[in-house]
Amino acid sequence: MYRPQEDTWLMAEALEEAGMPRGSRVLDVCTGTGALAVASGLAGASEVTAVDLSRRALVAAWVNARLRGLAVKVRHGDFGDLVGSAEFDVVTANPPYVPSVAVPRRGPARAWDGGVDGRSVLDRLCAVMPLLLADKGMGLVVHSTLSDPDVTLRQLRGGGLKASVVARRTIPFGPVMRGRAEWLSRRGLINEGQEHEELVVIRADAA
Ligand SMILES: C[S@@+](CC[C@H](N)C(=O)[O-])C[C@H]1O[C@@H](n2cnc3c(N)ncnc32)[C@H](O)[C@@H]1O
Repeated sequence: MYRPQEDTWLMAEALEEAGMPRGSRVLDVCTGTGALAVASGLAGASEVTAVDLSRRALVAAWVNARLRGLAVKVRHGDFGDLVGSAEFDVVTANPPYVPSVAVPRRGPARAWDGGVDGRSVLDRLCAVMPLLLADKGMGLVVHSTLSDPDVTLRQLRGGGLKASVVARRTIPFGPVMRGRAEWLSRRGLINEGQEHEELVVIRADAA
């Protein structure tokens, strides 16, 4: 299971800075252990839904929320399944985005591997974001600059949302990035000897 880390904390900070209105209905896409769902609950959301493909992650998210006295609705499956079932004032997402040879169907790498350009989940997320957001809703998405934030911005804007980068942080490579640095360098995604990557948080607002 994906332990909360730099991208999780950058998102949590961005969520705090965004000043989510109290009483918001929140969806945490790709919730993992529910760290961001919990952050929304603590920030005064009236309702938090957390969705993940991993049942183990959802158990962890539910327990973590309960331990803080919060009720989080957990939904098992793909975030796209929620389209049409509800609209949300806030959607948070820390999806898999690390460029990888393949898109894993199961196993732990499903938490971080995003396919050859890192965008297999990101592209779908950008496509459904306008459908998940209520009027005046706000989406927050975190990913690495290796998976091309300009494409995320273009796709979100193409869906009618106002989108911009609201946070950036350069962090040292973790074990996954170190393990595939040579492959990333051969593909021209990083420089030889590079040991850091930049994370961005993108905010998307519905009209
Ligand atoms: C990078 S982890 C993020 C976990 C947590 N939100 C955090 O910030 O620490 C990504 C999570 O997305 C889940 N996931 C991957 N593809 C998904 C999909 N299509 N729909 C829902 N969840 C997905 C994985 O199981 C994993 O728990």
